[in-house]
Amino acid sequence: MKYHPIDKQLFIKNRNKFMAQMQPKSIAVFNSNDIYPVSADSTMPFNQHRDIFYLSGADQEETILLLFPDAMEEKHREILFVRETNEHIAIWEGAKLTKEQATQVSGIATVYWLSDFDKVFFDLMTEAETIYFNTNEHYRQAVETETREDRFIAKCKKEFPAHSWAKSNPILQNIRGVKEAEEIQLMQQACDITEKGFRRILGFTKPGVWEYEMEAEYLHEFIRNRSKGFAYTPIIASGNNANVLHYVENNQQVRDGDLILMDVGAEYANYSSDMTRTIPANGKFTSRQKEVYNTVLRVKNEATKMLVPGTIWAEYHKEVGKIMTSELLSLGLLDKADVQNEDKNWPAYKKYFMHGTSHHIGLDTHDYGELKTPMKANMVFTVEPGIYIPAEGFGIRIEDDVVIQENGVPFNLMRNIPVEVEEIEELMN
Ligand code: GLY
Ligand code: MN
Ligand code: MN
Repeated sequence: MKYHPIDKQLFIKNRNKFMAQMQPKSIAVFNSNDIYPVSADSTMPFNQHRDIFYLSGADQEETILLLFPDAMEEKHREILFVRETNEHIAIWEGAKLTKEQATQVSGIATVYWLSDFDKVFFDLMTEAETIYFNTNEHYRQAVETETREDRFIAKCKKEFPAHSWAKSNPILQNIRGVKEAEEIQLMQQACDITEKGFRRILGFTKPGVWEYEMEAEYLHEFIRNRSKGFAYTPIIASGNNANVLHYVENNQQVRDGDLILMDVGAEYANYSSDMTRTIPANGKFTSRQKEVYNTVLRVKNEATKMLVPGTIWAEYHKEVGKIMTSELLSLGLLDKADVQNEDKNWPAYKKYFMHGTSHHIGLDTHDYGELKTPMKANMVFTVEPGIYIPAEGFGIRIEDDVVIQENGVPFNLMRNIPVEVEEIEELMN
């Protein structure tokens, strides 16, 4: 792991929050992600499942966490199963967690080898009535792959048909949505690494560079600051590429006069940052580019003010839509008739701003978190309005990550990342 060790108290707190919501006589099981194959013997880099990481800090494949608060033997209330390590594995793959290290990382006293799982699990299931399965209920999920968790659920349903089933996901959505201070600190570190990447780019960018060269500059800066790399596939979109919302080719040459939209964030310790900045290739916005840029910035700042305890996510989106509508009227991109005749299900402003304004962010970039209940302190949201104008050859989005605070003053984790036109121009020149 490139990141510094995390205080195990975080994972102990997280488990206690989860177990406090479990039914009597129930067991919950969480599996690591698989290491996904490419072909032949190549694999994708390992990326831990965020739930087992959140509850244990274990950042290793073939790990299982079992929680059983009512277990008759106290030592079986929390168990971590890790793959057995030995000298051969240490030489070929590098050291894996020993039992002692697994305890140090997670705060879980009982650590068994994975090969003992079936036996221990059968024994504990005879004491239990309910098993919690960790299905994926994220509002944007679209997974075709069978995960390690899916295989476990199928096996368990077959072998223990008389137990009742319960869902871990609603508990996780509830607790992961509200961040602990340690988590906000880790997210601040991710944002600070992103800031370093952005500042590097401001000195690097000029007409004639290629989008992938800019991508490489970010990656260089991220990894040298202990990040594994990008928190999500980066978008480096010059000119009209910015109007393809999920443009990830990053293979075009930047031209004089282009704006470049960069939606790029570093991960740190599995936590995401999610930033968008839009800069002029030649270091100077045209007056039209500046006019639209400052409009997007105003909408971002107004939207941010609404991220306070009690706000309802869907209502917030409607309010941001109203602000954007009024701004697009001022820019002359919409006229009164467009707004009067608009379809309430697809308001006129969506022609220029067709995506959402905010999503939860945390261990996942599009993180878990309740969306239908009022916002709470220590939830973290992105704020990311944009205006996309293919007819004028540019698209602009600005995105920050913001913590909701009890006192009603949102705390911007990206407060130090340059965003004003004058600052960007000065740093580029
Ligand atoms: N970078 C993904 C997003 O902004 O939601
Ligand atoms: Mn983004
Ligand atoms: Mn985002």
